[in-house]
Amino acid sequence: MWGKRRIFALYLYAYAHMEKIYIETYGCQMNFADSEVVGSILGKAGHSLATSVDEADFVLINTCAIRDNAEQRVRHRVRELRALQGRNRRLRIGILGCMAERLQSRLMAEEDNVSLVCGPDAYRRLPLLLEQVRDGQRGAEVELSTTETYADIEPVRLASNGISAYISIMRGCQNYCSYCVVPYTRGRERSRDPQTIVAEARDLFDKGYREVTLLGQNVNSYSFAQEVAGVKEDSVGFPELMERVASIDPQLRVRFATSHPKDLSDALLEVMAAHPNICRCIHLPVQSGSNRMLKAMNRKYTVEWYLDRVDAIRRYMPDCSITTDVIAGFCGETLEDHEATLELFRRVRYDYAYMFKYSQREGTYAAKHMPDDIADEEKTRRLNEIIALQGQIALENNRKEVGREYEVLVEGESHRSKERLFGRNSQNKVLVFDRGDAVPGTYRRVKVTDCTAATLLGELADIN
Ligand code: SAH
Ligand code: SF4
Ligand code: F3S
Repeated sequence: MWGKRRIFALYLYAYAHMEKIYIETYGCQMNFADSEVVGSILGKAGHSLATSVDEADFVLINTCAIRDNAEQRVRHRVRELRALQGRNRRLRIGILGCMAERLQSRLMAEEDNVSLVCGPDAYRRLPLLLEQVRDGQRGAEVELSTTETYADIEPVRLASNGISAYISIMRGCQNYCSYCVVPYTRGRERSRDPQTIVAEARDLFDKGYREVTLLGQNVNSYSFAQEVAGVKEDSVGFPELMERVASIDPQLRVRFATSHPKDLSDALLEVMAAHPNICRCIHLPVQSGSNRMLKAMNRKYTVEWYLDRVDAIRRYMPDCSITTDVIAGFCGETLEDHEATLELFRRVRYDYAYMFKYSQREGTYAAKHMPDDIADEEKTRRLNEIIALQGQIALENNRKEVGREYEVLVEGESHRSKERLFGRNSQNKVLVFDRGDAVPGTYRRVKVTDCTAATLLGELADIN
């Protein structure tokens, strides 16, 4: 009896000393998926998650290092939180993710109000780090792993709409594009056991989710070989994984990101074409329309190869939408190279593009060996030219959608009006329409009646 009470008291003591933690996430979808893993690890260790900074004792910022402005945003936020630390003396700050990995304990030297730094492969050690901080120390864990995939961790769905969820299927990247920091912040590529991926997707479907996005820096090179009694079985590649996930239920939409053009195979396109629930949208980052630049970027494909892949996509799935990433003003980019990028945009006619100015990243091949020789104003000018062209193409593409009808997965209320709902079609385009009797989490048919460059406007076409 006494023993039980003591254990209870100890538990209460420990619980009272567990921090309430707020996780704030920047960067790519993989970081958002990681924050959900972090939430789960912390929950298992007895911490509770705060829904705002105001009610938190500890803020963990999951950071991105891809461009300098991503890092500046985080530093700005860290300094903003300093003011709160004055008022609420218990508030502590920890940095997770790619910036933590890149800067390591330098970050604690530079930002003196940061008391914890934890890299993307070290999240299992977070509870220990928090304990160290509780004991008055500052802690850093930044070791990268060749095997960690967090396969056994069931992520908590943070800020979820209960309809779509991310599933991380691999980690790391070893493509070493000459401009990119990711191989240094995320380590070697490794794939997660397909059984755990399928189980996670099935569980989400059973819980009412209707869309999963499989995530990795280069999903096309997904490859997992199980070892049974010391013998490696045949490996499971990305097409087979997609086949398995898509077969869970025709009502479960499956998306994926990101595809590296060098590895986009016909085998994948065949699987996609055979499963209508695999969404008709491929994100295929091109980076530049000039072969000279692609070579300097170490992208390992040519414009001709890229266009062949675009043709293959359209051959297998004429209704497939294609989106991209592009970098303006990379080292040595001439006006001719830039014009080649514009020309490629005119040929492919992307539905959407993420467009960036080149930002030199310390430690990359380009930073070491290639001068960052395009003036910032010129980078901006070229970027703006690409943005203007892409805006025009997106609007023209959308105008062609007027009159067409789509199956839409309804997601929620439109930001502008409670009377309207929004959802996305298989091509990942957002459709906004009058609410009618539609309910989030269900599929409805919507006819497109009007558009902007970013959104399709429509009406329910299946009201009885
Ligand atoms: N793994 C993905 C891309 C991940 S990073 C792929 O290779 O397709 C997302 C995008 O950020 C890249 O596609 C690239 O367009 C951009 N990017 C990466 N490093 C950059 C840098 N140093 N400066 C500007 N943009 C960069
Ligand atoms: Fe970076 Fe290239 Fe890897 Fe993409 S494929 S994460 S751009 S190194
Ligand atoms: Fe940024 Fe890291 Fe993703 S650098 S883009 S958060 S992998």
